[in-house]
Amino acid sequence: MAFRSDRLGSPRPTQFPWTAVDTETHSQQCYCNTGQFQLLSGRIPKSSPTVTENGRATGDAQHWFTVLSGISHPRLLKFGPKLRTIASMGTSERFPGDVGRHGGSAVREKFLSFSLPLVGAEEIDEVVAALKSGWLTAGPRTRQFEQEFRDAFHCPAALALNSCTAGLHVALKVLNIGPGDEVITTPMTFAASVNVIEHVGARPVLVDVEPDTLNLQPDAVVAAITPATKAIIAVHYAGHPVELHSLRSIAEEYRLELIEDAAHAVGARFEGTPIGSGTNFTAFSFYATKNLTTGEGGMLTGSQELLDRARIVSLHGMNREAWSRYAAGGKWAYDIVEPGFKYNMTDLQAALGLQQLRRFDRMQARRREIVNRYNEAFSRHAAFLTPSSRSHVENAWHLYVLRLRAGELTIDRNQFIDEMTARNIGTSVHFIPIHMHSYYRDRYGYHPDDFPVAHAAFRSMLSLPLSPSMSDQDVADVIEAVLDIREKYGRRRMAA
Ligand SMILES: Cc1ncc(COP(=O)(O)O)c(C=O)c1O
Repeated sequence: MAFRSDRLGSPRPTQFPWTAVDTETHSQQCYCNTGQFQLLSGRIPKSSPTVTENGRATGDAQHWFTVLSGISHPRLLKFGPKLRTIASMGTSERFPGDVGRHGGSAVREKFLSFSLPLVGAEEIDEVVAALKSGWLTAGPRTRQFEQEFRDAFHCPAALALNSCTAGLHVALKVLNIGPGDEVITTPMTFAASVNVIEHVGARPVLVDVEPDTLNLQPDAVVAAITPATKAIIAVHYAGHPVELHSLRSIAEEYRLELIEDAAHAVGARFEGTPIGSGTNFTAFSFYATKNLTTGEGGMLTGSQELLDRARIVSLHGMNREAWSRYAAGGKWAYDIVEPGFKYNMTDLQAALGLQQLRRFDRMQARRREIVNRYNEAFSRHAAFLTPSSRSHVENAWHLYVLRLRAGELTIDRNQFIDEMTARNIGTSVHFIPIHMHSYYRDRYGYHPDDFPVAHAAFRSMLSLPLSPSMSDQDVADVIEAVLDIREKYGRRRMAA
């Protein structure tokens, strides 16, 4: 069996620039563009989870790029004789142009995920022990995790929840923020920080961010305060703490509540003090990509008084949780004192969290190493703006956000991401600013340029892989991919 590869066989050659045809049977044609591929006659096994009935790839499109470009031969072998034949074509008959409109080639065989969690045998053993313990929901491990987290980050008190979103929602509820109230926050965040304001019926008021840290601009916060303003939700973007002193004094002067969205900021410090050590509400995330993960999960910290109320709101409004009712010596009776939510963490999540806490310092040290290597590689090139960190903070380095400098490359950010994908490197964008999402745009009549710093940053940014699970080779591959793209698409300067 032989294969012919051909750029012109496609019915829509500009969109799908090449085909692969079985020259013996003419039974298989594959058309590929940067984001998807279509299998026009179905010889790739239908059992593959990536191929639907109509032959479109839905899941791991990147995998199929790899298959169709013939780059990653070992990965083909599990997909049956047809694809084994493609694999055996060898380099001389490799499909032309690799993949992608811009035609980069993979710097590595295996796709590097944007953020792989680091989970070891200790986490697995602890989860198994929790499973065997007979107590699966919030119980002794959850309590222990709360205590250890509280001690590790010097929090007055800690409440383990099923997400950071839950923590923010509960905080607003406990602070009695609702209809008629305004809450000032940033457009440079994930929807959760703002959705919770809508959930309680208050109005989110967005203000622009600082050009370097992309955190809330304190002056812009002051300018947005009205008699209806009740709170500020300050996001420690990418793990870099906000200007806490300024925001605390603004909150004090105008009698506002300060809620910290510390989804990215486990382990961050402001002037030597850990984020979460204040008496105000601070919500952390343990989502799968976060610096410390429980799969899904969160921690709300603050004064004991606030958290006593939060504990009730987070669990149906019950005055006593299950652990204190069902454990030995527990009493069955309880009362519902308000209509609360069902936001508790489980002991299975806490088991993961306890072991993640044990390895946390090492994981953070590895993040810093990777950040230093990226900075060293990219900061010398005019095409890139590397993330900055102010001297009075300790950055948690949740994200490494690289910005492309306007006019330095002949491709834009989206094309840059396509190029990274073609090189088998996963990336992401943090974030599509809130005011550009249709719900917020339409509800509040926002225009992209209403927050020019956030908008410009969004257009130029991409987040590179950053995880303590990355090997030195992974880091080198990311650097090679970024510099290769710069080399290929950097604007050439005329010699002076
Ligand atoms: C800034 C920010 N806030 C809140 C959240 C919500 O976190 P969770 O998924 O734990 O609810 C996220 C999630 O990624 C986030 O990035």
